[in-house]
Amino acid sequence: MEDHLTKSITHSNNITTISPHVVIFPLPIQGPINCMLKLANLILSLSPATVSVTFVTTDFIHRRLLLHSNTAARLAHDYRPRFRFETVHDGFGPDENPRNVSLLTMSLEAQAQAEGSRLREVLGFGSAEDEMKKPVSCIIAEGLYGCMVDVAKELRVPLVYFDTCSPCCLWTYFCIPNLLKVVDLPFQDDEEGLDASITSVPGMETYLRRRDLPSFCHAYDPNNPVIQLVLKEAQEFPKAQGHILNTFDELEGDYFAHIRALCPNLYNIGPLHLNLKSRIQQETTKSISNSLWQEDRSCLAWLDAQPPKSVLFVSIGSLASMTKDQLMEIWHGLINSKSRFLWVRRPGSIINKDEDTSQDDLEMIPDDLVEGTKKRGCIVSWAPQEEVLAHGAIGGFLTHCGWNSTLESIVEGVPMICWPFYVDQQVNSRVVSEVWKIGLDMNKDNCTRVVVEELIKELMETRRDEFSKRADKMAKLAAQAVAEDGSSYNSLNHLIDDIVSMRFSI
Ligand code: UDX
Repeated sequence: MEDHLTKSITHSNNITTISPHVVIFPLPIQGPINCMLKLANLILSLSPATVSVTFVTTDFIHRRLLLHSNTAARLAHDYRPRFRFETVHDGFGPDENPRNVSLLTMSLEAQAQAEGSRLREVLGFGSAEDEMKKPVSCIIAEGLYGCMVDVAKELRVPLVYFDTCSPCCLWTYFCIPNLLKVVDLPFQDDEEGLDASITSVPGMETYLRRRDLPSFCHAYDPNNPVIQLVLKEAQEFPKAQGHILNTFDELEGDYFAHIRALCPNLYNIGPLHLNLKSRIQQETTKSISNSLWQEDRSCLAWLDAQPPKSVLFVSIGSLASMTKDQLMEIWHGLINSKSRFLWVRRPGSIINKDEDTSQDDLEMIPDDLVEGTKKRGCIVSWAPQEEVLAHGAIGGFLTHCGWNSTLESIVEGVPMICWPFYVDQQVNSRVVSEVWKIGLDMNKDNCTRVVVEELIKELMETRRDEFSKRADKMAKLAAQAVAEDGSSYNSLNHLIDDIVSMRFSI
């Protein structure tokens, strides 16, 4: 270890006594940003004052955090001068230009290259200002940044990958080459269709179907940039000196042993948001928001006026979007179910069916929807989701099954109706409904008002006790994992110790 650090110091012509300096590279998406900022907070709060953290993100994300959250100010204030942001351009121009999922995924490779060159500056290579030149003892990068292995090797700095999507999805990424070999990919044009079983993903043979594989497998195109990123990740991920996952041992199933075999130096430190809460004073973390949109906190007062476990929370995360037709089907299903609901309609999350349809078309809404919403609903553009899910009035969560939302629902013992859109959401929803059995899977292709109404009644009424019992049991397992001497508690201590002692060797 000494020898590599000396080398990297010598290499950066900066002979000083090195103190641990971690540089963190998240994906520029709400979920991953949430995760990595919580990790930065935990590293800083649990390590000695000699440890510093540089958080590299896009200038767009940084501006949004400054505008809509207090996290930047809090971290800078609480840990001055040990925490700082560094930013790179995302190449999408002014903030009002859309950063939708297709643009983001097309740009991830370029993003990683830009962040890699920023890293060279932070390390003292290239034209960086003097005060930025600070030897780096460890890089923590999002798993999809496959190029970071080469960057870390060239700069002679240890790399720890943190894949912020679900481990069950990560395992399907690793299995794509095998799926291609046994011709489970591309999907055969046969009568079984998307419900055909997939038995070539070890540990998932009993429940995985074609439709549960990541969305980019549904129309497999080797030239798809996301597939190229994922295949590169599957190849590069195991090469890192350490691997962080936002999960806890007791949550994961048989397949997980295969990930451990590939990544022996594994830190399961999740649920990260719960680990943060249990390690740092509750009220402190409650007031720390990492939101990229302005939270409408009025929904908490509305929840206070609702009966216990009577409200269905509806949110599809930060990237997914729905057509106007899907919006109407969900809306009719909600009203016809007679359930109370709190619905997040994120700005830009409704795709107009016809290009020329203006947003205020939504104003021509049938009276029964207007009346039903007045009586039993609350609609906001963005909510303090962790606080909402922790509220006693919440009885269910209609979610896209993004990994952070799934974990947040598990932690609060809230059963789910899963409406997956892409990436890891398909396999997450299958595991929620078929393995953990704490929710219902509403396949993407049958989002009708009848199905929505039926699933809501099943989750909130007819099978409510059954789901609540299992969800409560899983919430207890999550709480035990982060409690003193729990699996995630110990794993986090192990990670902090390795960061402080700079024990990673390259
Ligand atoms: C993306 C992908 O969509 C997801 O599949 C992958 O697992 C992670 O990257 P995102 O779409 O942002 O994530 O969903 P999710 O992982 O659920 O993260 C959303 C975050 O935003 C959660 O932490 C949630 O608490 C927060 N949120 C969401 C709010 O704070 N307020 C809201 O109104 C909605």
